[in-house]
Amino acid sequence: MFVVVGVTGGIAAYKTVHLVRLLVQDGHAVHVVPTQDATRFVGIPTWEAISRNPVTTSVHDDVASVRHVALGQAADLVVVAPATANTLARMAAGIADDLLGTTLLATTAPVLVAPAMHSEMWQHPATQHNLRTLRSRGVRVVGPEDGPLTGGDSGPGRMSEPDAILEAAYAALGARRDLTGLRVVVSAGGTREPIDPVRYIGNRSSGKQGVAVAVAAAERGARVTLVAAHIEADVLAAAATRHPAIDVVTAGTAADLAAAVFSAAAGADIVVMAAAVADYRVSAVSEAKLTKESARQVPEPVVSVLEPVVPVPEPVVPVPEPVEGRTLELVETPDILAAVVAGRAPGQTIVGFAAETPAEGESLVERGRRKRARKGVDLLAVNAVGWTTGFERDDNELVIIDSGDDVVAEAAGTKREVADALWDAIVAVRNATAR
Ligand code: C5P
Repeated sequence: MFVVVGVTGGIAAYKTVHLVRLLVQDGHAVHVVPTQDATRFVGIPTWEAISRNPVTTSVHDDVASVRHVALGQAADLVVVAPATANTLARMAAGIADDLLGTTLLATTAPVLVAPAMHSEMWQHPATQHNLRTLRSRGVRVVGPEDGPLTGGDSGPGRMSEPDAILEAAYAALGARRDLTGLRVVVSAGGTREPIDPVRYIGNRSSGKQGVAVAVAAAERGARVTLVAAHIEADVLAAAATRHPAIDVVTAGTAADLAAAVFSAAAGADIVVMAAAVADYRVSAVSEAKLTKESARQVPEPVVSVLEPVVPVPEPVVPVPEPVEGRTLELVETPDILAAVVAGRAPGQTIVGFAAETPAEGESLVERGRRKRARKGVDLLAVNAVGWTTGFERDDNELVIIDSGDDVVAEAAGTKREVADALWDAIVAVRNATAR
């Protein structure tokens, strides 16, 4: 989100430094617009360093980019903290003789003010009248709190704490923050099981759905460990840079993924296994690259257990039929999800994914119900996959089944929309079991 933080001339400006830090930590682009007076309390270098964006008070800087209105137009939210009695009066009158004034007039985004002043100024009819005017225009107000004020006074007028302003900011944005304080593990991507130093058994998972689940959780307030099997580089980079509340742990094989998930799951409130984990690995990984020549040296049955991943096109020039084959012995990998369920901590919610190729005469939901019971998870998100569905795409369709075998949600849309529907279902299950 693009958040403008207006800072006006009150001592509470020092607390706004922390608010800006929290907003930046949450992944927002934050632009601070102090008034000239505010810079006597906290200087421009501090605001620039903490927001990581240039800061100015004047409408005459950066005129080429029409800055006096550009910030307000670009904003998804404007927060004014602290908002002095003088600023509230200027806002009510629509005065625009500095960059904050023009920004506030140019924006159609929600505006949140956090007043801070002495009790007498707060209670003055002029201030209360200005507040009513601002509220009637849709401006939201957080605080002030009752408590110690500068100079030893005490009473209403203390600016709300940064955490409270942050929550009010999210409420103003209409953002869901229902995972605040929760620790979440999400596995994503496809594992790769080595055959020899140059080949592996992999799958078509791009990791897009799992990454969308991780980013959605972080934006809803969770601290997320993303256990990343093979994920397309740009998809993973987007997750790591999109949200500072996401820690990425990489895992190549099913065994690596198991270790990473078990370690992260200890102490987690919710585990979502969205990774496409190989069901089999080769029983013995070859130290040397397997070659046709080496296969011919040891005669083996002409059978391969590996199916082609994509249909092989008819060759234009006929190629000779292969005369030799090679058998790879495969052994099952451990079911990580089942192990997480077996070792679950009290209150932990565990969610699995199931990518299914629908079978003739059997519904996706029926297969999903059987798999949910077999895995013992609280929720199973089932999606149909095929040559052209599910994998690698930006859209997905999920059916979410709960432990009572009910279909609690059916979601279709972008992988992010589907991820939010999944979190809605997870939050609902947790709320139901908490009662
Ligand atoms: O049985 P199936 O592979 O369809 O189950 C899918 C679910 O189980 C996914 O959540 C996947 O991450 C998980 N899984 C696992 N360990 C495996 C295979 C799958 O945790 N070895």
